[in-house]
Amino acid sequence: MKKDNIFESLSGVKIPIQIYGTAWKKERTADLVEEALSKGFRGVDTACQPRHYNEPLVGEGISRSGINRSELFIQTKFTPFGGQDPDNCPYNPSHSLEDQIKTSLSVSLENLKTDYLDSLVLHSPLKTLEETLRAWNVLEGFVERGVVKQIGLSNCYDHDFFCELFQKAKIKPAVLQNRFYAESDYDKNLRAFCNEKGIYYQCFWTVKANTHTWDNPTVLELAERLKKSPLQVFFRSLIYDRIHPLYGTTNSTHMEEAMDLFNFTLESEDIEKIKTIGQY
Ligand SMILES: NC(=O)c1ccc[n+]([C@@H]2O[C@H](COP(=O)([O-])OP(=O)(O)OC[C@H]3O[C@@H](n4cnc5c(N)ncnc54)[C@H](OP(=O)(O)O)[C@@H]3O)[C@@H](O)[C@H]2O)c1
Repeated sequence: MKKDNIFESLSGVKIPIQIYGTAWKKERTADLVEEALSKGFRGVDTACQPRHYNEPLVGEGISRSGINRSELFIQTKFTPFGGQDPDNCPYNPSHSLEDQIKTSLSVSLENLKTDYLDSLVLHSPLKTLEETLRAWNVLEGFVERGVVKQIGLSNCYDHDFFCELFQKAKIKPAVLQNRFYAESDYDKNLRAFCNEKGIYYQCFWTVKANTHTWDNPTVLELAERLKKSPLQVFFRSLIYDRIHPLYGTTNSTHMEEAMDLFNFTLESEDIEKIKTIGQY
């Protein structure tokens, strides 16, 4: 991995900037993961949540790729019961929260054919901070055992909640994974906190919720001048701002474009222009 393609997180884990997202790929998951890895992706994001992800096929795609485990960054999630399909939940919801998380981790390790995870993300906060901290304690135990290298949180849009979790946590969140959209004011306060603390800010819904930015005439013109696609220009500008889009394209050309984000640079005034258009 080239140096500018990696982010060294708070916990010292090297996270690739471009991570392949595996949601909603159903029976195509293994083929697409294998293809994304063959194109150069070295990070994979998934979840132990059969409703949206086929984690066993993610494992199959990874193993088919033949890439050494040490070269890969594998991230999965524990999904609380509220986010699971009640008819297809990977753990027994009547067990304690602690046991649900332990079972979910075992299932993920088996699905992903690995004995450790680079990153385990709590898919959403639980109902209260106290309950979230109970879950967090279990994740901390995994890090202490060495079976998980770092832990993170997703779908947390409450700045004070996240800061309080950060303060109370023995092992700090290394990743925040959120939807990047106008309704949350693009997480401006949360992102400032992440930047201050060295937390890797990952985003999703980046393509669909931001067409007003990457399909804007200014960006289109810049893309034409640079001979890049508008989305490449948008993603590159986000990365300059330490906003890291998860990317789950199913299109080979789009995969290749995602691997070509570090072969060009943007002027700071262009980055500012794009930010103004996007209002982030
Ligand atoms: N934590 C959470 O709750 C959560 C929620 C949602 C997602 N995620 C993660 O984030 C990953 C990414 O999900 P996402 O929602 O951001 O969407 P995405 O899967 O990255 O892509 C969304 C759509 O954008 C299209 N697209 C991509 N490149 C394009 C281009 N150059 N021009 C036009 N259309 C383009 C894709 O079509 P093509 O396939 O044709 O390129 C696809 O339909 C997921 O796979 C998952 O890992 C996490």
